[in-house]
Amino acid sequence: MSPRAHRAYLTTPIYYASGEPHIGHAYTTFLADALARYHRQAGADVRFLTGTDEHGQKIQEEASRRQLSPQALCDQMAGRFQEAWKEFDISYDRFIRTTEEEHKAVVRAFVQRLKDRGHIYASEYEGWYSVHEERFFTEKELGPDRTDPVAGRPVERIREKNWFFRMSAFQEDLIRHIRENPDWIYPEMRRNEVMGFLQKPLEDLSISRPRSRLEWGIPLPFDEDHVTYVWVDALINYLTASQAIRPGAPAGEQGFEDTSASWWPADLHLIGKDILTTHAVYWPTLLLGAGLPLPKRILSHGWWVVGDTKMSKSLGNVVDPMALRDEFGSDAVRWYLLREMPTGQDASYTPERFLTRYEELANVLGNLASRAISMIDKYRDGITPEGPASGLDADIETTLSAYQDAMEGLKVNEALSAAMELARTANGYVEEREPWAQARDPERQSGLDETLGTLARTLVILSALLLPAMPDRMTELARRLGLPGVPTLEEAKGISGGGLSVDKGAPLFPRNDNMGEAASAAVLGPGPAEVR
Ligand code: MSP
Repeated sequence: MSPRAHRAYLTTPIYYASGEPHIGHAYTTFLADALARYHRQAGADVRFLTGTDEHGQKIQEEASRRQLSPQALCDQMAGRFQEAWKEFDISYDRFIRTTEEEHKAVVRAFVQRLKDRGHIYASEYEGWYSVHEERFFTEKELGPDRTDPVAGRPVERIREKNWFFRMSAFQEDLIRHIRENPDWIYPEMRRNEVMGFLQKPLEDLSISRPRSRLEWGIPLPFDEDHVTYVWVDALINYLTASQAIRPGAPAGEQGFEDTSASWWPADLHLIGKDILTTHAVYWPTLLLGAGLPLPKRILSHGWWVVGDTKMSKSLGNVVDPMALRDEFGSDAVRWYLLREMPTGQDASYTPERFLTRYEELANVLGNLASRAISMIDKYRDGITPEGPASGLDADIETTLSAYQDAMEGLKVNEALSAAMELARTANGYVEEREPWAQARDPERQSGLDETLGTLARTLVILSALLLPAMPDRMTELARRLGLPGVPTLEEAKGISGGGLSVDKGAPLFPRNDNMGEAASAAVLGPGPAEVR
């Protein structure tokens, strides 16, 4: 994913259609959106995929709790996610739903392919099953009181016929792949975690559930009494959306042999640390089994907690991104989540931190834009002066290179911090140059031109740097600077800053007395069930 890359296929996890979007889902999606926008700006051909995970026991149970059919629940919840992403200007190219016919056909073709290649067999399975996590756990993995080690929910002892994928046969290949591609899993801590996991012999993976126990799934093509395990179904979404597989075509022409005409392999899977094993072990071994190329990279980010507590509906501390948006605007929420969490690490939502980050937007960026544009308006009749505007060129250079390095290294928070630093520097430049004093002195008019030109040029650069995080506000900033749209970084570098017709407007990041209360009220009260 270099800035010169021709294409970038980026994916988020597909979110369970059993709960409302919260800031955890929003974070992964914002991160993917920021990277997608960054790559588009750099001229790449981008495909950005998100969607909803709609099969399995979790959905079936939630639907019956709400007295809805599973399909009706999924329709409703897929709509909720789509609505949320629209509100937050998420620029996805494809929203996949695993109940789509196209996806079902690809899943069936995929498992048939594994079977044809001899990687699937039937056997009895007995083990500890967590409905909540929709997976079996080994005795050793179980937490206190026989609870699942992820959510601490009860597990059940289950014995049944299952179809198995010979995952164990691909353990060595996977280990070799990770060794040979040290950047494959980012950050390194997560790579080490996977390597640790792979030190023990891999067990084979149960890929089916008997229909007698679970109706809501995709029937296996070779045994209609079993549905596909929801994680296998879900992971294949990345392939479905890549348009690599043509299920209707005769055997040998279904696209498994050559994916080069499609979006597969993905350039980057963005996931949370909770779903690392499924993405870095199950998924690549399944792909190896099918003879398909592996995704190029996996980014596993940390968790949003509230204070120091895990977010959960039953605890009543789920942070609602929509409530924050209503008060602060979509970009402020994007900014907070992207700027606050160092990629890969955990971060904590607190109303105080949210407000601090908002203040940063208002006082540093908003203030810079407003004073620069007002002065251009007042001293130069709203047209930026022609002439030298290179007062901050050295800082711009440094910022651009720090920003690009950080983005390429997937450290979006650092890229944004570099951009905000440039805005801070520009505010310092205003203090130093004292344009109000320059304006009063007839001898210093060319100096004033240079000050104003430099500020305009810096704002143009900032609009391009901050577009991936704040598409709405940066589009507005570009408009106020008299530009037809936000320039790409390359274009921005070439804009001198002179001759722009600026437009004063209301603050980009307004403030009011209700903000503190709103940041606290976004932490929702207790609800009936845990989210996730
Ligand atoms: N449906 C599966 C994923 C299948 S992908 C083939 C799933 N869905 S989920 O609705 O639980 O959302 C998973 C993703 O949401 C996590 O991987 C993570 O990206 C994000 N988050 C959910 N809660 C989170 C936090 N509290 N903090 C940060 N992100 C978390 O798992």
